[in-house]
Amino acid sequence: MALKLIDFYTRGFISGADFDAIAPEIESACAKIRERCGAGSDFLGWVDLPERYKTDPSAIEELAEIKKAAEKIRSMCDIFIVIGIGGSYLGARAAIEFIRSQQYNILPGSGPQIYFAGNSLSTFDTTNLIKLCSDENKNVCVNVISKSGKTTEPAVAFRIFRELLERRYGEEGARERIYVTTDRAKGKLLQLAREKGYKTFVVPDDVGGRYSVLTPVGLLPIAVAGIDIDAMLEGASAAREDALKPGSDAVKYAALRNLLLRSGKQVEIFASYESRMAMVAEWWKQLYGESEGKDGKGLYPASVIFSTDLHSLGQYIQEGTRNIFETVLYIKNSAPDLPIPADPGDVDGLSFLEGKPLEFISKNAFLATLLAHYEGGVPNIVLTLDSADEYNLGYLFYFFEYACAVSGYILGVNPFDQPGVEAYKNNMYALLGMPGAENEARRQALLQRLESASIF
Ligand code: PA5
Repeated sequence: MALKLIDFYTRGFISGADFDAIAPEIESACAKIRERCGAGSDFLGWVDLPERYKTDPSAIEELAEIKKAAEKIRSMCDIFIVIGIGGSYLGARAAIEFIRSQQYNILPGSGPQIYFAGNSLSTFDTTNLIKLCSDENKNVCVNVISKSGKTTEPAVAFRIFRELLERRYGEEGARERIYVTTDRAKGKLLQLAREKGYKTFVVPDDVGGRYSVLTPVGLLPIAVAGIDIDAMLEGASAAREDALKPGSDAVKYAALRNLLLRSGKQVEIFASYESRMAMVAEWWKQLYGESEGKDGKGLYPASVIFSTDLHSLGQYIQEGTRNIFETVLYIKNSAPDLPIPADPGDVDGLSFLEGKPLEFISKNAFLATLLAHYEGGVPNIVLTLDSADEYNLGYLFYFFEYACAVSGYILGVNPFDQPGVEAYKNNMYALLGMPGAENEARRQALLQRLESASIF
């Protein structure tokens, strides 16, 4: 198994009896996935995706199309802009940073520089990206990703970058450089893609955004980064096989986090020891936050990168409010050894570490922190990942997706919807002046309420 779970450091917080008591709920949650009979079961397409890419002719053909498009983009462009928000960008960005590091755009390597846009409404960020693209010698390609085809952030960014491409290359040249990933049959983005003749990829109907990293949503940008998507899918396939076995680690993880929540731990901190994990943590937070945070329930998903954050949040974790637990993911072979050099003067008093790999210090920092936090009242679920390659990453993505679905069902929510996301959007559309009587009425009501505490 690429990923292993150790529950030793939850002892004293969760007992064997707790596990026995929750067993029927675990079984019922797993059955909901197996028999496709739980809330949101129309969105279980991700469960068999890794197998479909091996056996279903249309999925095999799609994979070949993704690789072909990625090769074309790699050969023709210097800057590749991935436009999308939430589940439509986090998986791809997580994979690229995990495999190629946070410095992927400046470290030597083949293929275009890759930037992400449309994941905020920041004028500053968008302007800077436009500046990067303004060098006429840099060939720019765009992949806009939106399942609904109507999300404001990516739609606005796509307007801006489509205009830039059309101005520079003309309609025909822009057509060559724009790739659209969206719904099979509906949405304004699909309509536009058809009108303009852009190459399209499909977000499957039965896969929601946050479970879509192993569809064209994630696979196209990941392949453009030169990452081996076959190996990723192999890893996901192995994770699927393991997760579906009774008593699997994925199911155990789902059970543990629910038991910890019931014991009063309301915040789960996802901890790791590598900056390459920063966007994986963001992906994980979206997956669990959006899947479980509803009906007044759910753990609050937070994240830290150690040892960096031991010097900022370490104090709180050690001694603050005791409503937290940690899920620590440690990567066993993150990078080749880097030995600590000799210093004859031993100015820092660290000569006892001379010749030892930096990894040796990191591992001991992990063990030291684990014990300190556990003994300070913070249960730790430990996950170890064999190495930081494509196979292991595919395994990790699937592991967390499966565990999230099981966990959501144990919690008693629909892990596949996100009704709460609409509240801000409805207000925003009204404030922006979207036409329609309902929007206008809402706008007047909102303006009146805002007047009582004037901000602008
Ligand atoms: O997980 C989800 O469903 C969401 O995070 C969506 O991915 C996000 O809101 C973007 O939606 P869309 O792809 O429709 O633009």
